[in-house]
Amino acid sequence: MSLAAAGRAPEIGGEQLGLLMQALRTHAGITIDSTPGVIAGHVRERMEHLGMLDVDAYLALFDDSIAARAERLALTDLLTVKETRFFRQPAAFQVLAQYLDKVVGSGAAPAEFSFWSAGCSTGQELYSMAMVAEAVFGHGESWREWHGIGSDLSFRAVVQAREGVYPEKVLGDIPVQYRGRFMDPKLGGRARVADVIRHRTHFFHSNLLHVDVAPFASFNVIFCQNVLIYFPRQERAGIIDQLVDRLGPGGLLVLGPGEDVSWQNPNVERLLSPGVCAYRKNGGSGRG
Ligand SMILES: C[S@@+](CC[C@H](N)C(=O)[O-])C[C@H]1O[C@@H](n2cnc3c(N)ncnc32)[C@H](O)[C@@H]1O
Repeated sequence: MSLAAAGRAPEIGGEQLGLLMQALRTHAGITIDSTPGVIAGHVRERMEHLGMLDVDAYLALFDDSIAARAERLALTDLLTVKETRFFRQPAAFQVLAQYLDKVVGSGAAPAEFSFWSAGCSTGQELYSMAMVAEAVFGHGESWREWHGIGSDLSFRAVVQAREGVYPEKVLGDIPVQYRGRFMDPKLGGRARVADVIRHRTHFFHSNLLHVDVAPFASFNVIFCQNVLIYFPRQERAGIIDQLVDRLGPGGLLVLGPGEDVSWQNPNVERLLSPGVCAYRKNGGSGRG
């Protein structure tokens, strides 16, 4: 029986929650904007998992040890908001399709293309990017190589992303021209991303806070939508600058609408596309 069901769920005070959130801000670099009730529920879930009843004893776990790091990751995993879907912000994917068409049409496109979904949650964003890419590159240019990576702070999200299996109802989010080609219906009311996409996409755990030291190469396209809201306002511009640094010449950066924190960077120009917060890095091919 759970502690809550047994009427022994610990009460968590506002001050204790404040201390926990401070620990996550300091060590994981993220701010949690869920309601105190939701946060307390997840803390109780972790305490129950560890067989603990005393909130102060749980708080005492958050020191500098390896065990504390593991617990912070486990709690963060529960607290991150992983809401996502295929082709969320459809206009952003139209911008991507137009961008790829233009680069390929310029005749000077690189032979190998790389994509990054930063804060990919359970994978739908990277898979959507990949479907657009395969539709452009797989059309008469089978020699063109491309690959995509997705990274996220949540281990659970990364595991689910790697599986690439979703309830069949998500098919309705995928434009018809991609749905039949890139999703395999499975038994049991589920659908799986097709191998042609899965074989070129990879997911791993990474905190964007440490993007400056992450072993990331240069990408042609980076999407980082609906993630920056988890960073303190004063740190967002620095993270976007790091993303720009990881874009190759002429690369495309897409942020979530409304995530444009009055940020400016001399190496990019904003693309005029209503409802989409997209930037193109200077240099490279496919201008205009
Ligand atoms: C609301 S989801 C957005 C998913 C997807 N980008 C989209 O727009 O549909 C936010 C994701 O960002 C991840 N996230 C939050 N803070 C992060 C950080 N510091 N580093 C990497 N990922 C982070 C969360 O785990 C979550 O999966």
